[in-house]
Amino acid sequence: MSEISQAQPDYNYKVVRQFTIMTVIWGIVGMSLGVFIAAQLFAPALNFDIPWLTYSRLRPLHTNAVIFAFGGCALFATSYYIVQRTSQVRLFSDKLAAFTFWGWQAVIVAAVLTLPFGYTTSKEYAELEWPIDILIALVWVAYIINFFGTLAIRKVSHIYVANWFLGAFMLTVAVLHIGNSMALPVSFMKSYSMYAGAVDAMMQWWYGHNAVGFFLTAGFLGMMYYFVPKQAGRPVYSYRLSVVHFWALISLYIWAGPHHLHYTALPDWTQSLGMVMSVILFVPSWGGMINGIMTLSGAWHKLRTDPVLRFLIVSLSFYGMSTFEGPMMAIKTVNALSHYTDWTVGHVHSGALGWVAMVSIGSIYHLIPHLFGQKAMYSTKLVNVHFWLATIGVVLYIVAMWMSGVLQGLMWRAVNADGTLTYSFVESLEASKPFYVVRFVGGCFVVAGMLIMAYNTYRTVSAPKGSLVPEPAAA
Ligand code: HEM
Ligand code: HEM
Repeated sequence: MSEISQAQPDYNYKVVRQFTIMTVIWGIVGMSLGVFIAAQLFAPALNFDIPWLTYSRLRPLHTNAVIFAFGGCALFATSYYIVQRTSQVRLFSDKLAAFTFWGWQAVIVAAVLTLPFGYTTSKEYAELEWPIDILIALVWVAYIINFFGTLAIRKVSHIYVANWFLGAFMLTVAVLHIGNSMALPVSFMKSYSMYAGAVDAMMQWWYGHNAVGFFLTAGFLGMMYYFVPKQAGRPVYSYRLSVVHFWALISLYIWAGPHHLHYTALPDWTQSLGMVMSVILFVPSWGGMINGIMTLSGAWHKLRTDPVLRFLIVSLSFYGMSTFEGPMMAIKTVNALSHYTDWTVGHVHSGALGWVAMVSIGSIYHLIPHLFGQKAMYSTKLVNVHFWLATIGVVLYIVAMWMSGVLQGLMWRAVNADGTLTYSFVESLEASKPFYVVRFVGGCFVVAGMLIMAYNTYRTVSAPKGSLVPEPAAA
């Protein structure tokens, strides 16, 4: 029996559909902004001397749009789907679901309206000013009530592991957001952090790193644990490993924040603790990656014909790569070279584009036919084209950033026999320029793939119900 005929009519798919479509739209907006600021880095005239088009204002708009609009909508869509399917009940509250959808879109629109105009707290990944922070907190609490409320009324006794990751992501993000955003408002759009000096920095990176750990990792691991087995048609490789993975990951991530503050005013022991915890974090991260990839045991041949599965498995490979690189960069001596350079930006995008975006895209491709009464996407061939554009684009991006990052690090530390610097900063910028062009080209590939996804989605959604059936994919 197909999944469509098993679907029970009383699931709330409306909110899942809404968030799914917005994932595609915000993905295009956020990534196009990334391409635009990537171009500004080698052609600064592209800000046209208009303040709200300057790099400093559009960069946080890019990070907010891709992380919270694109990634956030993907997480809302998939978590609402997963919790209903694995609990065998409709969402706890349709009203709360609608509130989270419209509230979250309002947050994103507020970001689009305020960041280009220069309203910012200046805290990275938490730039939005206090009235928007309050709205975020309200939406998030409604989300938590709805998710855990649904688990509470579930019709199956077991709580599937994907929900453990999703639940941890939601609870931790609430604590992080509220803790880090504590501020004293002085006017409608201006506030000052409640924390000062090194304590503020520590709070900021406790938040920032755990936003990586829980928003950009735990939530997407929840997605992985549901959609990889579904798409592969196999049970998860080791359920025991997934439970160990869960507890090890959440208990280690929370300590690793100080690796963002090596060689700063933070007490030295704190930096060393962050370093050690980051190195250990490699183990559960790879445990999770192996668990996901090995779920394909006995079904490897499906990779040849199923581009959706390819998205999911390649995303896991990027996850493995970035969680090998991260612990390495957390070692103080390595960080002395990598910090402030493009190496960090390359690491970020191997995690954020390679892992987060690709696992989301794969999951959304799996979801769309199920949500819109079809058995397949309008064109599997186009999904395949998207897969190759995305993969080539990400590889171009991160390889260019590794090269320019290591080059920058080495040029900055090169000294002559008399102790003077060998290179000026401008010389290192000139050396980076070709790599910025390559990154821009990689970004164009990724955005081209997203536009194809939007077209394919439009054709799938607008086709008569039940008319689309699977076609063989080009290998
Ligand atoms: C077409 C795809 C993308 C392009 C071209 C792109 C481009 C860029 C550029 C040019 C920067 C600024 C780098 C710098 O300041 O030196 C940046 C930063 C960033 N982007 Fe992207 N991006 C893309 C997709 C994404 C996605 C999908 C995510 C997350 C899900 C993401 C997350 C980030 C983050 C977190 C930063 C800040 C990095 C840091 O502070 O080290 N980007 N991006
Ligand atoms: C075991 C896992 C990981 C560890 C130990 C780790 C470690 C690190 C380290 C050491 C840095 C550089 C800090 C600096 O020099 O300023 C960094 C930056 C970053 N990492 Fe990771 N990383 C891991 C996984 C990931 C993943 C999977 C993602 C994305 C999904 C990610 C996203 C980021 C971001 C956004 C930054 C830049 C923060 C900023 O400066 O704005 N990391 N990470």
